[in-house]
Order: sequence, then C-alpha cells, then structure tokens
Amino acid sequence: MRVTEASAPGKVILFGEHAVVYGQPAIAAPVTQVRAWARVSDGEQPGVYISSPDLDEEHWLYESNSDDALAAATRIVQQAAQLHSLPALHIRVHSEIPIASGLGSGAATAAALIRALAQHLGRFDLASPEKVAQLTYEVEKIHHGTPSGIDNTVVALEQAVFFVRQKPHNLIEPISVPGLLTLLVADTGVRSSTREVVTDVRRRWKADPAQFEALFSACGRIARAARRALEAADPGDVGRLMNENQLLLQAMTVSSPELERLVSAAADAGALGAKLSGAGRGGNMIALVDSSCEGAVRQALQQAGAKRVLVTNLRPPRATSQF
Ligand code: MEV
Repeated sequence: MRVTEASAPGKVILFGEHAVVYGQPAIAAPVTQVRAWARVSDGEQPGVYISSPDLDEEHWLYESNSDDALAAATRIVQQAAQLHSLPALHIRVHSEIPIASGLGSGAATAAALIRALAQHLGRFDLASPEKVAQLTYEVEKIHHGTPSGIDNTVVALEQAVFFVRQKPHNLIEPISVPGLLTLLVADTGVRSSTREVVTDVRRRWKADPAQFEALFSACGRIARAARRALEAADPGDVGRLMNENQLLLQAMTVSSPELERLVSAAADAGALGAKLSGAGRGGNMIALVDSSCEGAVRQALQQAGAKRVLVTNLRPPRATSQF
C-alpha cells in the first residue's frame, strides 16, 4: 500500500491583521512548533474516505457537506489535476494547531492535505509551495469569506513574509531577519471565528469608513516600518511597533479582556512588545522577548491565564530561497 505524508506549520501575524484585507501590507511568520499533518493512502474499496480525529470527522467524500473544508480541499486538488474521478483513497488529517485560535489551523490543515494528495497522485507540479498556497486560498474562501491570502501564503511557503493583497498578483516578499528574534505565543483559550470577526470589522468600516481607513493606513505604515526594523534585527523598534499596532487593533474593537490581560502581563514583565495575533476577540497573542526577560514573561503570561505558551523564533532566511 502506498502512503504519502505532508505537513504544514501554524502561523502568527506579526503586523497588519485586518488592515491586510483592505490592501495594506502585513507581516506573518510560520510557527513550526505546531503542525497539521495529512496522510494519504491507497484505499481498499472505491471512493475517498476522509477522517480527522481532531475535527471529529469521518465520512466518504461523496456524502460530505458543501462547506466541509477537508472535502473542499480534496475536490480542489481533483479539479486542478483535471481528474474526472479520484482513485480509492483514505485521507487522514491530524493537527496540533488549536482550532479558531488565530494560529492558522484551517489553512495549515488544507495545505497539508493538498500537498499530500497532489504528491500521492503524482502531480508534483501541484505540490510546489506556490501552488499549494494558491489552492489553499480556494479553501480559505469557503472558511473565511474574504481572506486576504496571507495565512495560506505563510503556511505553504513556511517563511516569514511581507504581504500585500493586490491585483493581478499579491505582493509576497520573504523577510530576511538577520538575527534570531524570540516570540512567546500565548493562548487566551477563547475560541474566535475569523470569519465572524472579519465580517464585523467590514460592517464597522462601512458604518465609519473615514475612521477605519485611517486605522488601516496607520497599520500599513507600521508594517512597513516593522519590515525595516526586522531586517535590521532591531528588537527594540520591532517591540515598540507591536505595541503601536495593538493600540490600533483595540480601536478596531478586535481585542478582548482576555487578550488585554495577557498583553499587559507581558509588558509589565519586561516584554519588548506585545499584541494580539490573527483575527482577535480571542485566540493567541504574541510577546517579543529576549533572554533577559523570557522566563519572567512566560511566567507572567501563565499567571494571567494563558492556556498554553509556545516559544518560536524568527530565523535568518534559508540559504536557498523558494522564490
Ligand atoms: C487572520 O489570520 C488575519 C486576518 O487579517 C484575516 C485575513 O487576512 O484574511 C484577520
């Protein structure tokens, strides 16, 4: 029996969430400590059987709902491969990335499935990072309505990126961080639907375009300055810009009491900067630390109610680029 496995990492948005949906630049990075995995094996009877213990899902492709993300990812690969039907397969998906927590679990699960299935079908042209990013975007549209494209890009490329949603092609530039910057990623434990938060921000933007355009533009300026600070490996500046971005996210109403508690706890314990990450109103926040404050900030986050604290590094770029 042939078996093909693939995986994709979680992600954090460092700068510019929400504003990125409206064409402003944003910066995101992979979180390689948590991953989603897909395993595709030849099936014993005709049809495609999909199972995901984490999502509590187990069904045949033909009986899946139209909004089922795993089925959608499978069909998107079938379409891209121009196959009238798929061979007998068992697709099993497993994710260590908490769902609805701002760490890109949906995008990572779809990217892992798409990559494993494309490879299993011998369609390596559909398994390249760029193609996986593009196909994952199609799945994201079902999940999120109007995704910017940053989540699928960063989980498929597995590289920190400066991203601008634009036509005809998004701007995607890998960020070179010369030193090692350390982030703590702390979970409020409150689940939040990206689709709902993005839809609510859109409603508020329509109700007060001048205020929201100004907030989005300010986020864009911060993201551009943050790119320079990251490339200069200037943690002081990166942290200050994170704090400024957090104030704008508060003004957009996407922070929450739980996120604020963790952000304040990190700041009081000496973090260089702290902000929510992703859609907000729950999910995860990030704190930039150095070796002198990492332990204290981690402890402060746990005492302030964090359900889990991950540590992740922004690394110097790989020697060979995927671009
Ligand atoms: C979600 O990770 C980031 C948002 O900006 C939505 C998006 O970019 O699609 C909130």
